Amino acid sequence: MLPWKSIISINRTDTRPVYLQISDTIISEIMQGRIHKGFKMPGSRTLAETLALNRKTILQAYDELMAQGWMEIIPKRGAFIKESLPEVKSQPLGESIKETVPLSSGIKSKYEIPRSECVIDDGTPDYRLAPIDSLLKTARSVSKGAIGKSVLLGNHYFGEGTLRKNLASYLSTTRAIHGTIDNILITRGSQMAIYLAFATLLKKGDRVIVGQLNYHSADKAIQKAGGTLVKVPVIDVGLDLDKVEKEAQSKSIRAMYITPHHQYPTTVTMPVENRMRLLELAEKYDFHIIEDDYDYDYHYNRSPILPLASIDRNNRIIYIGSFSKILVPSIRIGYMYASPSIIQKCGELRMIIDKLGDPIMERALAEMLSNNEIDRFLKKAVNTYKSRRDLFCSMLKEELKDEIHFKIPEGGMAVWVTFKNVKITKLIESANKLKLGLKIDVYEHTEKACRFGFASMSLEEIETNTRLLIQAIQVLLAR
Ligand SMILES: Cc1ncc(COP(=O)(O)O)c(C=O)c1O
Repeated sequence: MLPWKSIISINRTDTRPVYLQISDTIISEIMQGRIHKGFKMPGSRTLAETLALNRKTILQAYDELMAQGWMEIIPKRGAFIKESLPEVKSQPLGESIKETVPLSSGIKSKYEIPRSECVIDDGTPDYRLAPIDSLLKTARSVSKGAIGKSVLLGNHYFGEGTLRKNLASYLSTTRAIHGTIDNILITRGSQMAIYLAFATLLKKGDRVIVGQLNYHSADKAIQKAGGTLVKVPVIDVGLDLDKVEKEAQSKSIRAMYITPHHQYPTTVTMPVENRMRLLELAEKYDFHIIEDDYDYDYHYNRSPILPLASIDRNNRIIYIGSFSKILVPSIRIGYMYASPSIIQKCGELRMIIDKLGDPIMERALAEMLSNNEIDRFLKKAVNTYKSRRDLFCSMLKEELKDEIHFKIPEGGMAVWVTFKNVKITKLIESANKLKLGLKIDVYEHTEKACRFGFASMSLEEIETNTRLLIQAIQVLLAR
């Protein structure tokens, strides 16, 4: 039996619940190679007694590990670390993390929609719910007095200092990404972070792996930075990693762009096994991974799988996040989490195009993170969006089950729908005639699939707009 008492220490001042502290510690032990695949975990009663905790807490921690794909129960034998996880080489305690890579070195845009009150978009938040009043009130108060002086006169070249600090602790408690202010750069939305990452990493002609279907603004940033897109098919667990390895074997790869929490646009989640294999591939073939976690906070069925950045031990990941889906996209606050040297390079580049960001809004957001206002808002928003998702999906299923295929998304703000007989360009025209604006993208490779957002519509709007959508589809099918 491992010395569980010294491995798992519970910090009562940590804002994470105890069961999450336990599951995070076990994940970290697996990542460091100190708990290996196939390892038999102690029974919940035994571990509860050893740690002097309630057995329910251990069961919750085990549930979390199973939900995230790290552990499995084998009937009549017990709880085991999954066999299907790749082997992790043990890393001696205290070894410093080195920089492993030298750093110096088809889609049509959204259709014009008619002026219409009825709109279905491709997955945006409901601006009417966002805590904008509170943000503005806080912005007003932080621009006064001594705080105001430091906010208004400070040199916030890498982002407002309190936001960088509070964000570091927010990432630690919500995503098990443990860093400091030196790992964080504040940007104008994640789009700027994506651009800075590629502009810093790439030389002309460097190959970058992306999904065949991808976030086209990321594709554009890669190409603008001189990169060559290497498109890999997206399957039902994210990018096809066998194809990724083949590409890396055939010619060197500099970087890869992924959205593993909900693959954009198809919304699938990358399982833990694939995340670990991807990190291994990055190490073996020496490339960086840009992990765009644009909607991490929205998950409806279970807690989310932790980001790759939380299990990265070799600075392979540049992690990018945004407040666009929590506040609104027009409040431009995003961030990058990476090694201090990458942050330094990207920060210097940011200063050339935008010296200071928006210190007042950033400081106001910092306050809302530290007084848990963002957390409280997210709890409410997740419940609201979950009921919107359920209504939208049930209406689509009821009326169109023979014509469309979709999986109910585990999180996020959109459903990826594939039609049997309907082309998306025709559907947009048909919907326009009924005064329903479809503010969605049309993808080159799949003219019969698209994203439909559900989060920005109230339940009444979903009823009305989905009826119009169904009618527009039926008109096309009747032709
Ligand atoms: C894949 C992806 N990344 C990032 C973003 C957020 O962009 P920003 O933070 O620049 O508003 C979006 C917004 O829709 C997105 O779809």
